[in-house]
Amino acid sequence: MRYTISDIKDMKASGVKIPMITAYDYTSAKIIDEIGLPIILVGDSLGQVILGYDSTIPVTVDDMVHHIKAVSRGAKKSHIVGDMPFMSYQTNSYDALRNAGRLLQEAGAQSVKLEGGVTMAPTVQRLVSRGIPVMGHIGLTPQSVNQLGGYKVQGKTLKAAVKLMEDARALEDAGAFAIVLECVPGDLSKLITDKLSIPTIGIGAGPSCDGQVQVFHDMLGMLTDFKPKHTKQYTNLSDIIKRSISQYADEVRDITFPTSEHSYKLNQDILNELQQQVI
Ligand code: KIV
Repeated sequence: MRYTISDIKDMKASGVKIPMITAYDYTSAKIIDEIGLPIILVGDSLGQVILGYDSTIPVTVDDMVHHIKAVSRGAKKSHIVGDMPFMSYQTNSYDALRNAGRLLQEAGAQSVKLEGGVTMAPTVQRLVSRGIPVMGHIGLTPQSVNQLGGYKVQGKTLKAAVKLMEDARALEDAGAFAIVLECVPGDLSKLITDKLSIPTIGIGAGPSCDGQVQVFHDMLGMLTDFKPKHTKQYTNLSDIIKRSISQYADEVRDITFPTSEHSYKLNQDILNELQQQVI
């Protein structure tokens, strides 16, 4: 049985922490699903870690549909959240409905995530009222990087902290089933988490959130040029991959790969016959 939004809300109620991770393809989704994580986020971070853009801004709905489809073929139990990319919902709630509908109907997500608080609450309400579960996302909202002037911790002044608390409340009132808090001081995340009945999922938001999310490629050390402060790198797959592929290349060059173990044999009689053939 797949995790539902009720299961996820119940986890907060019963004090069970919620681990969430991003995935963008069939194989990683299958591995995460086999481990048993309750939520996979097909994040628009795929713009950077899969497509090589320098932000999430260029990501399209078609990109998201393509990757969510792959993830939904791999994950059978994890709840799949599909990110709404830039300008797929900010224009009006009709666009939001059409595009969110695509992520569920065409791609196979069970819910969508969108960025923004008070200003996006009417859109969240519209989606929820049409049967589309929504995860909110406040704090550092990467789609607004040009407005925010960079990837910075949010909510550091009294005014900004109060605004974030209002954003969180507006999303809960609009019917969001959970909220991502990105790059928010831990004390503020705790206040927000304590005041809400829906789960908060933090990234750079301290240990008090009801859950945590990490970007797959960051936590596995696949992209090592830059490591955000909030990333814990659990391994260094980049080094492991480089070592393995270098060894393969060396073995091809010195003919120690493939061996008979990796080769197919022809029946000896057929081989003898073939050796007599003149072509
Ligand atoms: O796109 C993404 O991966 C995200 C997470 C960082 C929360 O939005």
